[in-house]
Parts: sequence; structure tokens; C-alpha cells
Amino acid sequence: MEVDTHTLIELIDAAMSADYTRVRRTGNLVAKKLLEAKDAEGAKLLQGLLRKKGMPLQASGYAEALPRDSASRLPLIEEGVWPTKPLFLNSTAGETISRFLEDCQNVELLSSKGISTRLGLLLHGAPGTGKSMLAAQMAAHLQIPIYIVRLDSLISSRLGDTAKNIRNVFDFIPSKRAVLFLDEIDAVAKIRDDKNEMGELKRVVNTVLQGLDSLDDDTVVIAATNHPHLLDPAIWRRFPYKIELDVPDQSVRTEMWSYFLFEEKIEHHGDSVLLANVSKGLSGADIENISLSVRRRTILDGETPSLNKILMAVMSSRSGSPSLLEKRPLSHEDKRSLTIFLHEKCALEVTNIARIVGVSRQMVYKYLKELNNGN
Ligand SMILES: Nc1ncnc2c1ncn2[C@@H]1O[C@H](COP(=O)(O)OP(=O)(O)OP(=O)(O)O)[C@@H](O)[C@H]1O
Ligand SMILES: [Mg+2]
Repeated sequence: MEVDTHTLIELIDAAMSADYTRVRRTGNLVAKKLLEAKDAEGAKLLQGLLRKKGMPLQASGYAEALPRDSASRLPLIEEGVWPTKPLFLNSTAGETISRFLEDCQNVELLSSKGISTRLGLLLHGAPGTGKSMLAAQMAAHLQIPIYIVRLDSLISSRLGDTAKNIRNVFDFIPSKRAVLFLDEIDAVAKIRDDKNEMGELKRVVNTVLQGLDSLDDDTVVIAATNHPHLLDPAIWRRFPYKIELDVPDQSVRTEMWSYFLFEEKIEHHGDSVLLANVSKGLSGADIENISLSVRRRTILDGETPSLNKILMAVMSSRSGSPSLLEKRPLSHEDKRSLTIFLHEKCALEVTNIARIVGVSRQMVYKYLKELNNGN
């Protein structure tokens, strides 16, 4: 494949200006062309290079340009990376996502017709449901950088500095075509009438409101929170688009198990469905964590852990605290509770339960009988 002169100049210019966002964007376009030219290996190599980040950025002095807290000298924002993993979402989220992205891509057209749009999207929902990842993925889709506000450095111990830091962040953003990501926005946008709070909180929330109002029309702002009910109503109104990310439903859980645990091998489809059945209520992050613990064991022990062990880990997981895989074999008690769990949660037949748990059918009958007798 030949790289045209324009692309080459763009690449070199971006590299010379230490503008890694542009290097990545142009590099990704080249990788796409390589793929189209059936050079999958070249594309993979290039994408691997583009994912390398951190060191050169810090060493280039580019990171120096980011606003910092005057006391701690920590940067107030950092540039996030575009995700390379897929995001699995319930179908209800899809419509707002595409409407928002379409509006982002057509701001100029819309404003030329006199329709000014505020490109504010609020993501809310339980921890580990993919809010931060969705924000980064939207930036990737729009091919613009994402600036993540670091609340730990933004909230200053020095009175008055928090508001100053917020102003600095909003002053920095209009110069970039970028996504501004206010993760865990509740920390700086709580309802202002809380009687126990002093004037500082009021000032902070007002500064966030002023900052949001000062942004250019084409600046995309995404905010995320696990506590939408704590947000000040005025903040709430600044985000016309809202998406609630729920824990995954049955079919999304099936996709997640298949991707995170079985590398999408079709012969494991049945196991993915079964795991989806028993993991109701767990988040994407939980499912990923359990899957990673299984894969770690597979590598370290030299064999795939049995399905009953995986099920046991899922069964004892609660949302937000996934259980990792045990090294020891299942005990008699484990087998009994797993049997009852599969019977109650999945309405599986006795033969199936016996096969999965690794006990005889007689044993399954015995466990279930004891259950009915109240033991
Ligand atoms: N819907 C999903 N699809 C794919 N992966 C997911 C999903 N949800 C979570 N994950 C995995 O879990 C990780 C953590 O998710 P993420 O940080 O985006 O959640 P969050 O909603 O922002 O959580 P928090 O409220 O704790 O900040 C992701 O990096 C991803 O690997
Ligand atoms: Mg998050």
C-alpha cells in the first residue's frame, strides 16, 4: 500500500508538534487503509505502536501545557486513550447514543440553521457498567481527543482553589476540539441547598455552571455519576442528553462471557448462556474480572478450570465485589449449594445439573429432597 504525500506530511507535522492525538488519528487512518489493502499484519503492528502512550507524552513537554493545581502541581486534566476493546450495551442505550453522536457531527449545519445545540451528555448508572468507557468510545467515534478531569487534583485543600482550578479547566478546553469528560461529577455538582455545607460548595457549583455556559457550541461535554439524585438541578439541566447505563441484560451478559472468557469461540456458546443465566445483577466490570481470574488460572495451572468452579465464583459474587476463582476443588457443601442454585435460578433438568456440578443424579435428587424438607 502507498501512503499519499498529504498523509505523510500530516504525520510528520503532528510528530514534530508532539501532538500525539493527531499522530494517533492519522496513524489509525493509515491502519484502516492497510486493512483495506488486506495487510492485516501491518495494520496490527501499526495499531500496537499507536497504543503505546505515556512515556513520550510526558517526556515531550506536551503534558506540561496541561493546567495544574498550584499547590500540588498535579495536572487537573489528562488525555484519555481511545478504547480498543468493544463495549456491550443493552439496546435501550443505543438510540440516545446515535442521536447524540449525530448531533455532534452536525453542529455546524445545525447552527447555520439557527439551531444551537448544547452538546452535553450525562451518563448515570451503577458502578462498573461502562460509563467511563462509553465516554472514551464516543471520543474515538468522533475522532477527537478526550480530556478527563482529575477530581483528585481538582478538589484542592486550599479554600478557594477548587473554584480556581475549575475555571482553569474550562479556560483550557475551548482551544481544543475535544471531549471534556467530567467523571464523577457529583463531587463538584451537589445540590446547593444542603444546610450543612458552607459557601464553598455553592461557589464550586456556580463555577461549574459558569464553565459549562462558557464553552463553545462545538465542545462536547460528557459527565458521569453513580449518584444522579445528588446533582444540583441546574447542572442536570445543562445536559440535554441523558443515558442511564443499566447492568447488562441476559443477551448482553451472554456476549460478555463469550468475549471476556471464551474469546468468542462458538463451541462455548452454551456455557456463555448458562453463565449469563446465573450472573443476573452483575456488571460488565464484574464479569470481566471473573473472566480474567479464570484465564489467569488457565495460564498458571496449565488447564482450564472446570465449569463448576467458574459457576461457584459467579454464584458467590455480588455486584461490585466479584469473587475470584478458588484454587481448591469444590467441597461437598459447594456442590450442594451449586446444585440448589442451578435448580432455582436456571430451572435446569436433573441430568444437566449432575453433569455440570460433577455429581451423580441420585446425589442431585438427594440435595433437592433435603431442600424441600427444609434442611
Ligand atoms: N458494558 C460494558 N461492555 C464492555 N466492557 C465493560 C462494560 N462495562 C464495564 N466493562 C469493563 O469494565 C471496566 C470498567 O468499566 P467503567 O470504568 O467504564 O465503568 P463505570 O461505569 O465508569 O464505573 P464507575 O462508576 O465505577 O466509574 C471497563 O474498562 C471494561 O473493561
Ligand atoms: Mg467510571
